[in-house]
Amino acid sequence: MSSLVVIGAQWGDEGKGKITDYLAQQAEVVVRYSGGNNAGHTVEVGDKQYKLHLIPSGIINPGKPCIIANGVVIDPKALLDEIEYLQNDGVSVDALKISSRAQVIMPYHKVLDELSEESLGDRKIGTTKKGIGPAYMDKTARTGIRMSELLDEKIFYGKLKIALEEKNKVLELIYNYPKMDFDEIFNSYVEYGKRLKQYVSDTSIDVYNYVKEDKKVLFEGAQGTLLDLDFGTYPYVTSSHPGSGGVCIGTGVGPTAINEVMGVVKAYTTRVGEGPFPTELFDQIGEYIRETGREFGTTTGRARRCGWFDAVILKFAVRINGLTSLAITKLDTLTGIEKLKICTGYRMDGKIIDEFPSSIEELAKCEPIFEELTGWDEDISMCKSFSELPENAKKYIRKMEDTCGVKATIISVGPNRSETMILNRVF
Ligand code: GDP
Ligand code: IMO
Ligand code: MG
Repeated sequence: MSSLVVIGAQWGDEGKGKITDYLAQQAEVVVRYSGGNNAGHTVEVGDKQYKLHLIPSGIINPGKPCIIANGVVIDPKALLDEIEYLQNDGVSVDALKISSRAQVIMPYHKVLDELSEESLGDRKIGTTKKGIGPAYMDKTARTGIRMSELLDEKIFYGKLKIALEEKNKVLELIYNYPKMDFDEIFNSYVEYGKRLKQYVSDTSIDVYNYVKEDKKVLFEGAQGTLLDLDFGTYPYVTSSHPGSGGVCIGTGVGPTAINEVMGVVKAYTTRVGEGPFPTELFDQIGEYIRETGREFGTTTGRARRCGWFDAVILKFAVRINGLTSLAITKLDTLTGIEKLKICTGYRMDGKIIDEFPSSIEELAKCEPIFEELTGWDEDISMCKSFSELPENAKKYIRKMEDTCGVKATIISVGPNRSETMILNRVF
């Protein structure tokens, strides 16, 4: 067996898309297992840039089978737009498959996401407003609509009738919002279903067979460890399980199907949305990182909050996901910063802790304990091997590895596929 999970080890946007695209060159299939179009994965190949939200980043490799599995929530209009966007760019999506079990994001999910955020005021989560939370809520309430149901007009009619009746009551009575029109939703969604039908099947069979036949299966994560519904900075999280634990439920294979788990980690930390962030920088260095690293959201365009690398978080990600290797990204962004800081522990209520707290109330009280390292000035974006890196960059990488006990397999020094160093072959 040779399956590999690529997951975000921080708060998302670690560069999973870039790493997945790189590894997809060798993989035989790429499978997305959780989240929805809240994700934004940027891939750069040659002089082309692709922004993907739902379709696995392997799709840029011609003919590569790509699967959107059952753990994903699908906005059919967003998916059709993405298919069209790729086709217009000459990328074939013929090898795309969509799980018949995946849940559908409905227009009322998006409206409820917005209204709920509005009503939370200062306590808002800072969601992407793509309807992710409400769609997963319906899934667990067992009132959601699956792809297979969308494709059957009669079943879809019945399910939408019941769902919309309830949602319209919520919209009207709780939010004083106008009722949504059944016919409008029904007709447009039936149309979307017709256009997506060719891609839909029971993908759990495909994934199982790929694994059984010892094919190189690449599971592409979305979001990140600290956005996990259980282990993230709740309630400032997403509504799915982005970690390696989400792979089995999200695709339909058992845990023995997973061989390796690669954590993608930026050489510093970022987050979008609200919630505590111990190493956040509010000074010129934070601004420098944001500008140099182009830290603006792929999905919402929001400026990402930037801070120093936090080893407490990475250690936590190793523990929660069983990471077996690291892909360290955006090392180039730190070039030119004279003194670099790495957070190795927190001070909370006068005590020193090195385990990530389980509540945001505790996390909000944590003050980072930093170790300082000397930076480098040399342009590293052309480096092709570890030995070519400046000594201080090497020390920085070694320090990242030492703090979490897991070695880097990939070091990324630029957004392009070509700006990637492989320390150890993965597949
Ligand atoms: P994802 O959501 O984890 O796939 O990450 P995003 O694509 O949202 O954000 C990562 C951003 O950093 C994208 O704009 C990438 O093109 C870019 N990127 C990825 N790796 C590197 C790197 O090593 N250096 C630089 N400068 N940019 C990178
Ligand atoms: P990728 O795959 C970064 C964040 C949102 C918000 C919280 C909940 O590109 O790494 P949601 O819309 O999911 O209900 O929002 O989660 N969030 C992300 N942050 N990268 C992502 O995906 C994210 N997906 C959701 O900003 O704080
Ligand atoms: Mg992203």
